[in-house]
Amino acid sequence: MAGRFSDNKLRVHLCLASIVFFGLALVVIGTESRAAGQDVAAEKQAEVQQQLPPDPDKDREPSPEWGAELYGHYCTPCHGIRGDGNGFNAHKLIVKPANHTDAKFMSERNDQKLFDTINLGGVEVAKSTLMPPWGAALNNDNKIKSLVMKLRDLCKCKATKNW
Ligand code: HEC
Repeated sequence: MAGRFSDNKLRVHLCLASIVFFGLALVVIGTESRAAGQDVAAEKQAEVQQQLPPDPDKDREPSPEWGAELYGHYCTPCHGIRGDGNGFNAHKLIVKPANHTDAKFMSERNDQKLFDTINLGGVEVAKSTLMPPWGAALNNDNKIKSLVMKLRDLCKCKATKNW
């Protein structure tokens, strides 16, 4: 009787241990394949950028004014002229574009995260692919830095978290 009891206990422990093991394995595989996916996206984009002519503004310093100009061209169709997520294209999207004037939401993203989101798209931050990657179209990191400045102007906020 006692033997069977401890057999059962052993089985339960083995069962729990294998659940934990497979759980951990899935987390590791998931994280690695996501990282690999990001590398592929970044690589593909770099490849495209190499084939593009150099941006004539490549030596221009990033600035909020430049950011505002670029935001007007590239972002307002979805994010709206005021940056509140109500652009003319927004009603066609099944995921609502982010509200860039929401200080709480925006302060939870640091400048590097915003840069990566603009550069490689929503998928970079595990968000919707309806947020496009802009790195190749802009083809100039200083443009992306300017856009981050514009985003900080819109939310009137700084990052409170380091991610
Ligand atoms: C085609 C429509 C579209 C355009 C154009 C667009 N976005 Fe977005 N963007 C979205 C959508 C949709 C989301 C919401 C994604 C989600 O919540 O999954 C989003 C989300 C974001 C976010 C928040 C991501 C997060 O961390 O949650 C940032 C920042 C952003 N966009 C910046 C920009 C900037 C800067 C531009 C212009 C260069 C731009 N977007 C142009 C559709 C667009």
